[in-house]
Amino acid sequence: MTTRILTGITTTGTPHLGNYAGAIRPAIVASRDPQADSFYFLADYHALIKCDDPARIQRSRLEIAATWLACGLDADKATFYRQSDIPEIPELTWLLTCVSAKGLLNRAHAYKASVDKNVEAGEDPDAGVTMGLYSYPVLMAADILMFNAHKVPVGRDQIQHVEMARDIGQRFNHLFGNGKELFTLPEVVIEEDVATLPGLDGRKMSKSYDNTIPLFGTAKQLKDAVARIVTDSRAPGEPKDPDNSHLFTLYQAFSTHEQQAAFRAELRDGLAWGEAKQRLFELLDNELGEARERYHALITRPADLEDILLVGAAKARRIATPFLGELREAVGLRSFREQVQVASEGKKKAAKAARFVSFREDDGFRFRLLDAAGEQLLLSIAFADGKAAGQVTKRLQSEELDLHAERSIFSVRLDGEAVAYSPEFSTDAERDAAMQRLREALAPQE
Ligand code: TRP
Repeated sequence: MTTRILTGITTTGTPHLGNYAGAIRPAIVASRDPQADSFYFLADYHALIKCDDPARIQRSRLEIAATWLACGLDADKATFYRQSDIPEIPELTWLLTCVSAKGLLNRAHAYKASVDKNVEAGEDPDAGVTMGLYSYPVLMAADILMFNAHKVPVGRDQIQHVEMARDIGQRFNHLFGNGKELFTLPEVVIEEDVATLPGLDGRKMSKSYDNTIPLFGTAKQLKDAVARIVTDSRAPGEPKDPDNSHLFTLYQAFSTHEQQAAFRAELRDGLAWGEAKQRLFELLDNELGEARERYHALITRPADLEDILLVGAAKARRIATPFLGELREAVGLRSFREQVQVASEGKKKAAKAARFVSFREDDGFRFRLLDAAGEQLLLSIAFADGKAAGQVTKRLQSEELDLHAERSIFSVRLDGEAVAYSPEFSTDAERDAAMQRLREALAPQE
């Protein structure tokens, strides 16, 4: 069984070493696991909550896309996309907003911090608080639930948001699932060792503290940043305490246990801070040098990055579009045109087991195949007219089925083209069982 891992990165800044160690590097390592089905995306709708500078949003999306690819993300294996290329996400956000308790969102740390600050300053509690900030956790829940992620690797500051996604998903399941788990409830994953790196001054590395080490600046910029790491005033020759030095903590995040033991011993023996900084610089330059070259090559080819991300969006939407259809159906947003089209004569048994339901949407005509219990077996692509859709349903009942498993879903092809997709399954076994059921439902009757 594959595990779906999903994480987003907000596109407001330029990635720094803390983002790399805390999110990007572990995510890329995890995506290489053959059991992993990774969804990584640029959270550019989230970025709009924090930033009203279009130029910065644009630059940051490009830099972050280039960073993930330069660091070794394989966009063919993982699904890599921009949140804003998936219109199903804001639509799902609304469905979730309607079941999210206001009281739950009142307790969100980021919102509460703004309120506390206002109260302290004697301002209106909600001064400067946008609905975007307030609803931030609902948008994030939609990101996660849209793709039924099992695991969500994030920094500690995001744990509460993932818990809220679980709460909201659970509530939706309860209200509309009819006993079925519409949404998988996600689990948070924190890399214990390196989840938050200290910055130059020892506080958490963060752009808002202006204490970051750039990830893909030049080697000189890296060296200069390392030189600015604050240390205590112990002179060369005096023993240093590695456990009270954030320079050592930074070193730890990028070294093997042997390297750490050796560095620890050297510091205890009185290694000068200047030397220690040189060791850290070399370690970082060694880890990042090649990726830095790739990054600078990528960033000069924005059109290629655009293509890669659009392919990723199409891949993500192959899941999001049919799933959102199911969710709309579940809450009662159903087409008036939906009408039962009983399968043709001589197939009474098949007709009882499964029925085609055709309907019209903005982009054309589609059909669903529902089993006897009304569960969706298939959702078709959009056809130009009802006649084309009808011909396909006829052929599916008379020709040998050409089914293709594609990760957590399967498709049905005619003349080599996918004409309909199954819902998503959480295990391969469930998917294979559904393929079997479909074959039985559509088998030509004697
Ligand atoms: N809020 C996250 C952050 O600032 C980014 C994010 C948006 C995210 N949507 C997500 C992370 C979904 C994990 C899953 O770090």
